[in-house]
Amino acid sequence: MSQARPLLFLLAAVAVITASSLFIKRPEPAPRKQGGKTTEKAVPPGSSPVIPMVTAEMTDGKVIFEQVCTACHGLDGGGKSELKSPAIASLPEYYASNQIASFREGRRGHHPEDTQSFLMASIAKQLTPAQTDAVVAYLTQMPRTIPADLEKGSQDADLANGQMLFQERCMECHRYNASGEIAFGSPPLVGQQAWYITAQIEKFKDGRRGTVKGDVNGAKMVLSSNFIEDKQMLRDIVAYIVSLNPRPEPPAVKDESPFESASR
Ligand code: HEC
Ligand code: HEC
Repeated sequence: MSQARPLLFLLAAVAVITASSLFIKRPEPAPRKQGGKTTEKAVPPGSSPVIPMVTAEMTDGKVIFEQVCTACHGLDGGGKSELKSPAIASLPEYYASNQIASFREGRRGHHPEDTQSFLMASIAKQLTPAQTDAVVAYLTQMPRTIPADLEKGSQDADLANGQMLFQERCMECHRYNASGEIAFGSPPLVGQQAWYITAQIEKFKDGRRGTVKGDVNGAKMVLSSNFIEDKQMLRDIVAYIVSLNPRPEPPAVKDESPFESASR
């Protein structure tokens, strides 16, 4: 016992260090793993995340979601800011399928400096078309989450300016309540975290997203992002979009006008 102690301590320390140095942790051990094929070669040098594996026997959308997607997108599909992974619960089918195809076919996740997209691309490449359909069908019916960072950034933002910019520049495609539009292939922006919206616009602006030939929908956003000239403008728009989310329910009586919340 007294001899086992230092060893246990050492093991625990190693475990802690390893866990914190990994960008991504493995999900709960998947029952019945097959093949033992590793996907580590898909990881860019410099980062050494352990990416969950999709196996051939995973045919059910719920199983794929729980064993693979939750590792990065969370149990409720609401995303994880520490992994820079977005909310995917309730994304419409047209958009989610299209994005997974984009990751798989290199329209998204192709840029060497875009680690997050690269990671997601390595997942998309493991999914068969049938698995993609199954998991997309599952996540589209999950309830939409309310971003945890609802208020973040809005202190420095001019919401009225954000609203005006949104109405002038974004609404024609994303609709007045940012709910997305199948006819334009535009996603809902409500439900999405402020930092993610910001990061994607920066990616559209600097060529990490939307610039590959044939990415028709991405190209629309490259054009639309161009007019956002500075950080303040971006902050204003993002704060406005995020303000379109319903307020989370529990926080009891804050003295807010009932009219205001009812009109949202
Ligand atoms: C290793 C972490 C990781 C895993 C596992 C993962 N994702 Fe992702 N996913 C990401 C990241 C990070 C992004 C954002 C990429 C970016 O910034 O462009 C993303 C983006 C997405 C998007 C695009 C969302 C949008 O609003 O454009 C979809 C759809 C998606 N993931 C679906 C899935 C599904 C389905 C699974 C499970 C089969 C899955 N992901 C597993 C990390 C992951
Ligand atoms: C001409 C139509 C159009 C306009 C105008 C437009 N968008 Fe988009 N937007 C799209 C389409 C289409 C996509 C999906 C791109 C893809 O498939 O990769 C998109 C995607 C996005 C995304 C990525 C969301 C995600 O989940 O990854 C963000 C953020 C976004 N738009 C914000 C904006 C903002 C802010 C404005 C106004 C400044 C705007 N868009 C104006 C059509 C448009």
